[in-house]
Amino acid sequence: MAKKINFGIIGFGFMGQTHAETIKNLEYAELKAVCDTNEAQFEYASAGVKTYVSADDLLADETIDTVIIAVPNLLHLEMVVKAAKAKKDIICEKPLAMSSEEVKEMMAVTKEEDVRFTVHHQRRWDHDYRVAKEIYDQGLVGNIYTIKSSLYGFNGNMHDWHIYPELGGGMLYDWGVHLIDQMLWMIPAKLQTVYADVRNVINENVDDYFNIQLYFENGVNAQIELGTYFLNSSENWFERHWFVGGDKGSAKIDGFNPKGEITRTSELLGNVPGKITMTHAGPTRSFGPAPEGRILTEELPEVEVSHRMFFDNYYAHITGKEELTIQPGQILRLMQVVEAIRISAKYHQSIHFE
Ligand SMILES: NC(=O)c1ccc[n+]([C@@H]2O[C@H](COP(=O)([O-])OP(=O)(O)OC[C@H]3O[C@@H](n4cnc5c(N)ncnc54)[C@H](O)[C@@H]3O)[C@@H](O)[C@H]2O)c1
Repeated sequence: MAKKINFGIIGFGFMGQTHAETIKNLEYAELKAVCDTNEAQFEYASAGVKTYVSADDLLADETIDTVIIAVPNLLHLEMVVKAAKAKKDIICEKPLAMSSEEVKEMMAVTKEEDVRFTVHHQRRWDHDYRVAKEIYDQGLVGNIYTIKSSLYGFNGNMHDWHIYPELGGGMLYDWGVHLIDQMLWMIPAKLQTVYADVRNVINENVDDYFNIQLYFENGVNAQIELGTYFLNSSENWFERHWFVGGDKGSAKIDGFNPKGEITRTSELLGNVPGKITMTHAGPTRSFGPAPEGRILTEELPEVEVSHRMFFDNYYAHITGKEELTIQPGQILRLMQVVEAIRISAKYHQSIHFE
């Protein structure tokens, strides 16, 4: 095996500690040091891992090859610049930056210092997402005209620094960048138009609801809706759904551990004489039950996926075997989409994008 990657983590809170746990299970990696301005966090560092209160001191540590930046969003630019100048390879948490201008600055400095640079968008390896992507990639429902990705919760609202806009709080920066990144990576076409509604439903400071429509040049209309205040009394305190509609079928995918099915029809309904069905909503011809035998169902495709594949790809890149799955240029486009979303929501207007 090639040399192990020696990691250092800057920002040892929720996500920094999550990374430390992941690294323990990677045979090709070792955690050498962590840094946090709050020394109380060091209680969660394993024996043998060095601790620093200053990022500069961690970056001066020659045993470290790659730093993972997991501080609040506002500080990402400062840390990426410092890390690049210290000649460390960099994995930065999402959202990569507060603006597309900051992403450009990061791309320039990492290029100039010739260090590796990627972003922890591990939700490209979410199970439900990969099922939707497989359906898209394999054309399992024919020509797709609509894709809807939604996430609803009532307990997932803002906490800690996430309630401060100036620190990069709000749901668009938190889950939004994941859900939008998933769509942009799945649909390799020019993004023509962006339209969005972004609101503060119960949070006065930062956005806690959004509904985004992305129209792509290949005819796909992608919709992403997230709400943190969709109260529900079931044991499930969140809901995750996908709907993929094509001209040869529909797919419904529910939950992060996805359940669902692909539905097809044995025969397309042509222009047939109307048959009236009585429903609770009154008599209908368009929305009655399908004729006997017309509805066929299939299981969702199987996919093998896990979040550690983000790191597997990073290691494969370091050893010259793979391109980085998450390229800074893609994240620049993502951040430009986020900016278009904010402008669209502010003026209630569609934005022509590419
Ligand atoms: N990829 C994901 O799924 C995911 C999930 C959660 C959070 N995140 C991202 O991870 C980052 C951190 O979020 P979190 O939820 O872990 O926050 P957190 O508040 O739990 O942890 C942040 C830590 O950074 C420390 N810190 C602050 N300023 C510092 C500085 N100058 N130097 C060193 N340490 C400093 C804080 O003391 C804290 O311990 C954010 O960018 C967030 O968006 C990503």
